[in-house]
Amino acid sequence: MDPIEPFSAPRVSPAQAAPETICARPTLLAESTSVPLVPAPQLSVVYRFEGLDHVDAVYQRQADGFVYARDGHPNASALAARIAALEGAEAAAVCASGMAATAAVLLSELGSGDHIAFAEQLYGKTISLIDRELRRFGIEATGFDATRPDSLVAVLRDRTRLVMVETLSNPLLRLPDLPGLATIAKNAGAKLVVDHTFAPLLCRPLDLGASYVVHSGTKLIGGHSDLTLGLVAGSQEEMDRLRGIGSTFGLSGNPFESWLACRGLATLPLRSSRSCATALDLASRLSRSSAIRAVHYPGLPNHPDHDRARTVLQGGFGAIVTIDLGNRHRADAFIRNLRQIPFAPSLGDVATTLSHPATTSHRGQDPALLDRHGITPGLIRLSIGLEDPNDLAADLEQALAAVS
Ligand SMILES: Cc1ncc(COP(=O)(O)O)c(C=O)c1O
Repeated sequence: MDPIEPFSAPRVSPAQAAPETICARPTLLAESTSVPLVPAPQLSVVYRFEGLDHVDAVYQRQADGFVYARDGHPNASALAARIAALEGAEAAAVCASGMAATAAVLLSELGSGDHIAFAEQLYGKTISLIDRELRRFGIEATGFDATRPDSLVAVLRDRTRLVMVETLSNPLLRLPDLPGLATIAKNAGAKLVVDHTFAPLLCRPLDLGASYVVHSGTKLIGGHSDLTLGLVAGSQEEMDRLRGIGSTFGLSGNPFESWLACRGLATLPLRSSRSCATALDLASRLSRSSAIRAVHYPGLPNHPDHDRARTVLQGGFGAIVTIDLGNRHRADAFIRNLRQIPFAPSLGDVATTLSHPATTSHRGQDPALLDRHGITPGLIRLSIGLEDPNDLAADLEQALAAVS
């Protein structure tokens, strides 16, 4: 087949057309010999072709091009290329949310009769997906304690295909031994999936033995609480399959949010280092407060994973600090007394926000599981943004004084 050259769609001459035709047909953008500095969001759902050879060539990957946005679009390709480069992966894929990204991995890898081992410390909705929804399709699931590799060994089965953990668990920020877990998984013929939402840039899970790395792009990567997106990185073969699954199940991310996420990526390193530095500063200050029962932050020497965090994490210990105020009543009083920091149950924004895991991210989870992992009603999770640390400390201190 002759190489397919880019072609120009014919233009309608408005003078010759009826009003209905003028209104109905798209006006193509003016041609320019100069090119835009900033790539544009390409919102088109569908692409037009010169003829049948052309559409065949695109489907058969003999020519570059897109057909239908759910299958792929230029903004997803641009974002995926950058995520793959950041994660040291062969390829990446863009999904409609963090949950869609996880669902795409699970649907790619698991079938009826298979088994997945999941960290009991995972985000609550991820546990619901694995331990409740997947079961309806005949997929078995067993929880283990990500901080105890022996507990993973104990739950492995012949048909364990996946092992799933988070880099930094929510809300106690436990950092599992990723290379250790990857080796155990590999020896059992399973792949390690790491949800890296809390720690973009701080390490590269694929370098530590994971097969898949998943992000909620809604959080630190987007960075401004104005987009919902998910990202997955892995091998080319895995991503080709996952993109097909994503399209069939309708899990793909849309162009405008992919474009926004690329914009968020531009400042991610700066935002990450600033938030990590402020988080460490505030965690140290908060650990001196008599109003707080405990401060959980991997940068503090008394955190159970501090030594591992110092070796594994590069450039900081993360933007999340969790404090324990003892009970729900004191947590509520603290939230109500804050003047600047809003209770907004997400994370990763340029502004500092807080969440209450027991009533939000872990709502409805098995009480025994919450108890086992110390997720109590007194816990408050702070997501540290870019403000002046002294302004943040002043707001936190006055709210703590009111609680005391
Ligand atoms: C660790 C973690 N993973 C995944 C998700 C799901 O991300 P999304 O809300 O983009 O679906 C969240 C959401 O809070 C999360 O905290």
